[in-house]
Amino acid sequence: MEDMLFKLVEVPIETQNSDLSALEWLSTKYPKEDLFFEVKDNLIITHIRQLNFQNFQQDIQSLLNSKNGNAHQFKYLESIVEAIASIRSYGLKAGKRIYINYNSERKVKNREHKEQKRETYFYAQNHNFSTQNQSLPQEFENQIICGDSEVVLKKFPDNCIDIIFTSPPYNFGLEYAQNEDDHHWHLYFDKLFKIFDECVRILKFGGRIIVNVQPLFSDYIPTHHLISKFFIDKKLIWKGEILWEKNNYNCKYTAWGSWKSPSNPYLKYTWEFLEIFAKGTLKKEGKAENIDISGEDFKKWVYAKWSIAPERKMKEYGHPAMFPEELVYRVLKLFSYQNDIILDPFNGVGTTTAVAKMLNRKFIGIDISQEYCNTAKKRIESQLF
Ligand SMILES: C[S@@+](CC[C@H](N)C(=O)[O-])C[C@H]1O[C@@H](n2cnc3c(N)ncnc32)[C@H](O)[C@@H]1O
Repeated sequence: MEDMLFKLVEVPIETQNSDLSALEWLSTKYPKEDLFFEVKDNLIITHIRQLNFQNFQQDIQSLLNSKNGNAHQFKYLESIVEAIASIRSYGLKAGKRIYINYNSERKVKNREHKEQKRETYFYAQNHNFSTQNQSLPQEFENQIICGDSEVVLKKFPDNCIDIIFTSPPYNFGLEYAQNEDDHHWHLYFDKLFKIFDECVRILKFGGRIIVNVQPLFSDYIPTHHLISKFFIDKKLIWKGEILWEKNNYNCKYTAWGSWKSPSNPYLKYTWEFLEIFAKGTLKKEGKAENIDISGEDFKKWVYAKWSIAPERKMKEYGHPAMFPEELVYRVLKLFSYQNDIILDPFNGVGTTTAVAKMLNRKFIGIDISQEYCNTAKKRIESQLF
């Protein structure tokens, strides 16, 4: 929250159990133009313009230490520190965090002209995409289709899908039900890119393709870069990247030969990527009444590092490489409108299609395994109440 001159930070207090004298003491330490407190009903409102946050924390800590026996009466100070710490956007100047107008100095003069001169996303200019979107034939709407996506997608008209969200097979020996997942990398990418070629074709103008990819660090294959290069070469706009932090610190791979030696240290990763591309334009048209993301979620999720635990029910669903529903939930709320058509060409046991249905989107899921498709259908049917 902020007025024109100050950012406002509100902290609730139990007035009868709190000793507010600390606020007076703090007010003597910080100039009123930078920081002051206001007590209103059961709230302490901190008006803050700029602050050496480290000093502020130290001041509060030493105050709490000195009040040893009565520290509970000053607990609200910790809440104020936490609330200020949670403000993520600020500038920095001479050791101070600047909370107001910190951007104004950085304003670029003639921004538009300079952007034109540089040619924003130059690699995606001069595309040949038609701007004419088409309706999806009824037979494909809300279907789980068993088959090879390369073959199935050829039956779809151009420009008919709003959002493609998928995680391709990993090709590192996971035991999938149907296909062998240990092709030579050339064959793997050949096949993957044939399917992605179809995806680009059937995506609407303004549609988005979002690929969850775990780079094959163990084989030194930067899959996320290769996939991004593919879409960039196809003249899609790289909209950005989300880092999905899985926090799974017990990674299994350790190259013991490289322990404590610079000879070849083995890097470990607890995250995957979501690479996001747009066809023709970054702006996706849609009706305002079909937006279903809350302001709070929007604020949290545009910060592009998402901490989400990996799917825990893989055994139950009988699939070795599912992504969690929460991941799909955020992607669909942030990048699509209700009623949009969502496709997953590697749908597995149907996490994308189940969440799309739950969120009032239309869905199509394709997987080569009949067994996985059966599970995906059951997940859809279990929502029919
Ligand atoms: C990483 S998994 C996707 C899992 C899915 N996100 C979920 O949560 O269940 C990749 C899937 O691609 C499927 N697949 C592999 N080759 C395919 C192809 N040519 N066409 C369609 N599906 C294929 C595999 O059967 C596997 O289920």
